[in-house]
Amino acid sequence: MTTRQTLADELTRARNRTLRLVDFDDAELRRQYDPLMSPLVWDLAHIGQQEELWLLRGGDPHRAGLLTPEINDLYDAFVHSRAARVNLPLLPPTDARNYCATVRGKALDRLDALADDHPDAFSYALVISHENQHDETMLQALNLRTGAPLLDRGAGLPAGRAGVAGTSVLVPGGEFVLGVDAVDEPFSLDNERPAHRVDVPAFRIGRVPVTNAEWRQFVDDGGYGQRRWWSEAGWAHRHQAGLTAPLFWNPDGTRTRFGHVEDVPGDEPVQHITFYEAEAYAAWAGARLPTEIEWEKACAWDPDLGARRRFPWGATEPNAALANLGGDALRPAPVGAYPASASAYGAEQMLGDVWEWTSSPLRPWPGFTPMVYRQYSEPFFDGTASGEYRVLRGGSWAVAAGILRPSFRNWDHPIRRQIFSGLRLAWDV
Ligand code: AVJ
Ligand code: FE
Repeated sequence: MTTRQTLADELTRARNRTLRLVDFDDAELRRQYDPLMSPLVWDLAHIGQQEELWLLRGGDPHRAGLLTPEINDLYDAFVHSRAARVNLPLLPPTDARNYCATVRGKALDRLDALADDHPDAFSYALVISHENQHDETMLQALNLRTGAPLLDRGAGLPAGRAGVAGTSVLVPGGEFVLGVDAVDEPFSLDNERPAHRVDVPAFRIGRVPVTNAEWRQFVDDGGYGQRRWWSEAGWAHRHQAGLTAPLFWNPDGTRTRFGHVEDVPGDEPVQHITFYEAEAYAAWAGARLPTEIEWEKACAWDPDLGARRRFPWGATEPNAALANLGGDALRPAPVGAYPASASAYGAEQMLGDVWEWTSSPLRPWPGFTPMVYRQYSEPFFDGTASGEYRVLRGGSWAVAAGILRPSFRNWDHPIRRQIFSGLRLAWDV
């Protein structure tokens, strides 16, 4: 299949997903479910606005487009905070849908005319990644929504297997290649590049993410009330926010998920925890969080080959037997559900299920060069004005398979937990 055909298919797949997530009445789409999230209709028009900017306006905000400059600015994420977006004169849902469809028609026409190796293929991949990332954001919003559920309980998943929770694998010390280059991963984003050798001392890492049953022991042991497990900033936040359990856990032992109340499944990776809680749990468990560099080595390095694998398990594209991705499950899979997903070192479920907090602030790799969407990574690097972030790795159940790689880096504030965040432990050896 040509690159052009793949890009066209991925655009369509992303759009079908977006449209399913806004298939609600106008009042619903304009609601602010939580000040942390935009109304769904903002994400919808922003998806179109970014597609128009990168594919039709050559990334130049001064080049005339389909929207008036005033309306275009409503969808600038740097100008309007999420909390403020509900009060903006946003495009009504029908106009937003029509705008997105018009942009898409023109973008597909242009794609037809491109050569397969045209540099703009990257811009198309960027737009596909962007739309899918906003689809995950919309799922976060829908999860915070109160009222009778809009979404069902989600698609089926493979069963887990006993005996893997709480176990770990050894990653011997030595150099590996961190990050990727355009020649191997043409659609990798700027913060994943360039590939470079890094020496990593030996460590152990969890075979699978930490489960709800394990987290319950931390809660029952009084972990949320014991200062010694928490960093200073973590302890301050734990008190200020009144944290006593993961977000969406109810006092009676159930949880609320997309409006459905259900028992907390003990063998599912814990999700909806802040970085600070992840750090405290790790301390309580006699462990620590992995650095993102350790995480990537455990995920992608093949010591026998002396080279990276494209995916933890090898070269096969992700599929339903290898990872829980794409968003249809609406939840993580139980640990042990993907024995065939094991990396060279034996770590499983590195891709999909939950975003895994690492101890690393977001920093550029040496030789970092911003991509055409300059503001994607650079404003968020450690030491910049926008504040403090921690890196999350591996992707959640809500991430589209086509945009995820072992080198993919996500980040958020250490106090955020409406995201589909969990953790995997690490240990010095
Ligand atoms: C990479 C997920 C942190 O949602 O803030 C979307 C992705 N950037 N639109 C975010 C993004 C611009 C970004 N994260
Ligand atoms: Fe965006």
